[in-house]
Amino acid sequence: MKEVEKNRMMIFTGSSVPELGKKIADKLDIKMGNVELTTFSDGEIYVRYLESIRGAHVFLIQTCSHPVNYNIMEMLIMIDALKRASAKKITAVVPYMGYSRQDRKAKGREPISAKLIADLLSTAGIDRMMTMDLHAGQIQGFFNVPVDHLTAIPKIIDYINEKNIKDLVVVAPDSGRVGVARKVANRCNADLAILYKSRPKPNVSETINIVGDVKGKNVFIVDDLIDTAGTVCESAEFMKRMGAKEIFAACTHPVFSEPAYKRLRESPIKEVIVTDTMPIKNDLLKDKLVVITIVDILSQAIKNVFYNESVSEIFRGRM
Ligand code: R5P
Repeated sequence: MKEVEKNRMMIFTGSSVPELGKKIADKLDIKMGNVELTTFSDGEIYVRYLESIRGAHVFLIQTCSHPVNYNIMEMLIMIDALKRASAKKITAVVPYMGYSRQDRKAKGREPISAKLIADLLSTAGIDRMMTMDLHAGQIQGFFNVPVDHLTAIPKIIDYINEKNIKDLVVVAPDSGRVGVARKVANRCNADLAILYKSRPKPNVSETINIVGDVKGKNVFIVDDLIDTAGTVCESAEFMKRMGAKEIFAACTHPVFSEPAYKRLRESPIKEVIVTDTMPIKNDLLKDKLVVITIVDILSQAIKNVFYNESVSEIFRGRM
């Protein structure tokens, strides 16, 4: 009898992040799996794996970049096909989890879309979820499977420390970011400032107050994501008026919906530091943009999960 290969790792990527997937596969020294991804004439998605999946631990990489609904649906269908092809284990590797901002009912008759996405992924058939810098850590609890909640913040901390910026204040652009901003400030020997905002409607924010002092200081705004860039640009303008000197903005997820590029170009922000959890149009921000890669974090986490080793070890002493 042929000896059964007990542990087989396979990596596939959806159409959102082929480059990131390839870099991760290269880092792990594994060949990217072959899958056919196409659409029917009416827009429905068709998926077929072009090699056997049977008995493999499959890591499926897909991020929720534009077009977000398509990418989510494609991921669900890819998971369904994996399950029906007898994958032993399916880990969804979703560097940016879409809909994560709708994690509670802020007003009556609203959905909790983050919970719906978690349910959809479970129903499709995942055994494990791997993601980065969720909008709120509690979203992990929306999943009934283990969640590896990775973070790119240590990389942002390293970047700030390498720049050796004098008179630095780390700024939380809203109350949701205070915890992370405090950690960054501690690790960078910087002061902390917190902005208070009103959000009259989605994607519109107004800074109304600041706790902390930015006058004559260099500031570093840290957020989980930049979408239309209203929040960071408005925060930057506010702090400029308060007498801040150089202004930097960093986030894990560069969602960058219109008019983000224009706003960032025209803002007083000197540098925008992001990671590659999502594809970016680098040329639209030119010298202002710094992209930090998270390929090593994701590939190390995939390796540790596959070999049943600790994932939190990756971040030991760095947060
Ligand atoms: C809000 O809670 C988030 O952390 C971000 O600050 C916000 O979603 C960014 O959106 P935008 O760039 O459109 O202001």
